Order: sequence, then C-alpha cells, then structure tokens
Amino acid sequence: MDKYVVFGNPIAQSKSPFIHTLFARQTGQDMRYDAQLAPVDGFKEAAEAFFAAGGRGCNVTMPFKEDAFAYANQLTERARLAGAVNTLKKLDDGVILGDNTDGEGLVQDLLQHSTLLEGQRVLLIGAGGAARGVVLPLLAQGVSSLTIANRTVEKAEALVELFASHGPVEALSLSGLEGKEFDVIINSTSASLSGELPGIPSSLIRPEVTCYDMVYGAEPTTFNIWAKELGARVTLDGLGMLVGQAAESFMLWRGLRPGAKQVQRELRRTLQ
Ligand code: ATR
Repeated sequence: MDKYVVFGNPIAQSKSPFIHTLFARQTGQDMRYDAQLAPVDGFKEAAEAFFAAGGRGCNVTMPFKEDAFAYANQLTERARLAGAVNTLKKLDDGVILGDNTDGEGLVQDLLQHSTLLEGQRVLLIGAGGAARGVVLPLLAQGVSSLTIANRTVEKAEALVELFASHGPVEALSLSGLEGKEFDVIINSTSASLSGELPGIPSSLIRPEVTCYDMVYGAEPTTFNIWAKELGARVTLDGLGMLVGQAAESFMLWRGLRPGAKQVQRELRRTLQ
C-alpha cells in the first residue's frame, strides 16, 4: 500500500488525513495517509526517513514549508515563486519534487463557486507567506488586474517586484484603496484569527463582489461577517481552499482529480 503523510508541528489539528482518506476511498486508490509530528528543527531527517522507508509523497504544513522548499531536489515554478513547498513527491528516478498547491486550491475553490477570475479585478489583502503562495495561480487565470494591498505597504511592493513579469500586478497601501473598485476580494491576512478586520475601506464591499477569507472555522470569519453586513452576496472561507490544495496534491501523486464538493461538506460537518 502506498504511503503518504503530512508533516507539521503541531499536527494533531490537521484535517489532511481526513480529506485524503476520503479522496482515496472515493477514487478507489490503495493508499494510506497519516499525520506525523516532526521536531521543529528536524524536518530534513524526518522526511529522509519517510522516503527511505518507501514513502511516496507528503504534505508539509507549519512550520516546515520553507524547510521543504530547501529539501526538494526539483521545484515546480509555482513553488519556486511561492518560496514555499506544501507537497513533496518522490519521482520514479528518486528525485524529490517540491510543489505548492495552495494557490491552485484557492483558484479551484473560487471557480467551483462560480466566481470567474478571467478578466476580473482582484484585490489580495496581505503580503505574507499566504499571499505570496497564491499570486502566480491567480495571475495564470488571466485576471485583468491583481492589486496587493498591505498594512505594511513595502511588503506588498516587494511581492509586486517578484511577480511583475508574470502579469498585471500592483501594490497599494490599505488607505490607497479608497475609491477603487474590485470584483473579487481575497483576505490573506491573519487578522481574522484574532477577530480583527484587515482595515480596508467599507466602500469596496458591493453586492456583486465575491469576498474570500483564507481563514475558516466553525463560525463565519470576522471578515466575512463584516462583508455580509455590508451587502456582499457571496462570502467564502478557506475551508474550500484547504480541500482544493489537497485535491491538487492528490492529483500530483495519483494522477487523478478527486471530487472536492462532497469532501468539503463532510469536513464542514466535523467543525460543528
Ligand atoms: P502568513 O504566512 O499567514 O501570510 P505572515 O507572513 O505573518 O503570515 O503575514 C501576515 C499578514 O497579515 C501580513 O500581511 C500582515 O500585515 P503586515 O505585513 O503589515 O504585518 C497581515 N495582518 C495581520 N494582522 C493584521 C491586521 N490586524 N490588520 C491588517 N493586516 C494584518
């Protein structure tokens, strides 16, 4: 039976074993997927031992995404530009390929919720690791503009410099957003985790805007509650992105795309 794991520290909270076990059942794949705690300074050793024992691939979560980036022998372009790896795969020749499926997970979740990206004006709030991981997949969808706005504007400017040759991307401060108009607004900040709002002008929230918070929980997030109150018709949270990135990893490992919708419903039920 082919073995997969997710490495993290802590790891008990990870939903990945639940998701991949459902994917495997759904697609009839003979595989096993477990959660594995690795010491904070011991990712390399843990990954080496896993692959030496016949492991086929793994996911990597906090705090190991940069360690996995350094560990991979070969990187996909989206992982290289994200500067982080969430998926490793042992290729037939023994090479360890590093990929980052987070951004494609977000894109697929938006598309599944009938939110078009092609030709749309997209606002990405935040400029940390979560934001960096989604820029290339969003640009690859042919958005008409991608505006990165951050409390610390210099970080947004640095991201724009990194991605400028890949599409129409610009940086703004949060106050610089006043008077602008967007079709899709994505909150990648960690503000919702502490019950805070990222501080964008409320005039940006129009009924026809899709609002997406990368954070998720049993209850709607602070950002999504705020957007709904201001009249946004579609508010989505990061649970779908979580399932979407898992589906992309599964695809990389097994060569087939599992259905995300049913798994998303079942996962949502476990949060209640
Ligand atoms: P992650 O890897 O989750 O992206 P990070 O790299 O620490 O985490 O980045 C956190 C992001 O959330 C940053 O863009 C941060 O803004 P600053 O760069 O100005 O610190 C943003 N953020 C966190 N709390 C915020 C808040 N209360 N309001 C606005 N932005 C916030």
